[in-house]
Amino acid sequence: MAKEFYSQQRINKRETMADKKHILVINGPNLNLLGTRERQLYGATTLAEIETSLRAKALSAHCNLFFMQSNAEHEIINTIHDAAGHYDFILINPAAFTHTSVAIRDALLGVAIPFIEVHLSNIHAREPFRRHSYVSDCAVGVICGFGAQSYELALTAALEHIK
Ligand code: DQA
Repeated sequence: MAKEFYSQQRINKRETMADKKHILVINGPNLNLLGTRERQLYGATTLAEIETSLRAKALSAHCNLFFMQSNAEHEIINTIHDAAGHYDFILINPAAFTHTSVAIRDALLGVAIPFIEVHLSNIHAREPFRRHSYVSDCAVGVICGFGAQSYELALTAALEHIK
C-alpha cells in the first residue's frame, strides 16, 4: 500500500514537472553592463536584479525560467536552437543585434517558439538606425520603453499567452 502510494506520488510529481511551462529569457550584447551603462537611457537596475524579479514572478506562476546573457551572436543562436522542444516561450532582448542580425531572426523562425521582443529603451524614439528591428514582425509582441519594467510586462504577457 505504502509502495503504491509513493510510486503514485512520483508519477504525480513527474506529471507536475511535465505540466510546468518553460520560459527562456535571452539578453544580447552589453546588457551585462546594465546598472552602469548609459543610465540615463537604461536605468540603474542591473541585469542580475532583473533576473531575480523575473524568477520570483515565474516561481509564483509555477513556471520554470532560464535566464541567459551573451555578447556573442553564435551563443544566442545556439541557445535558441537548443530551446526547441524544451521551451514554450522566449523573451528576447537582442540588444544591438536587434538592428543587425538576420541570423537571430532565422534562428527564432527556425525553432518556431513564440517570443516577445523586449527593450528597456523606446527604440523608436532614438537614433533612426534603432527603429528597424529584424525580429519585430515575427514576434507575438514588442515591449519597449519601460526600462526594467519592460521585462516584467513581457513576462506577464508571456504567462498569459502560454496559459
Ligand atoms: C536595447 C536597445 C538597443 O538599440 C541597444 O543596442 C541595446 C539595448 C534596449 O533594451 O533598449 O543594447 O535593446
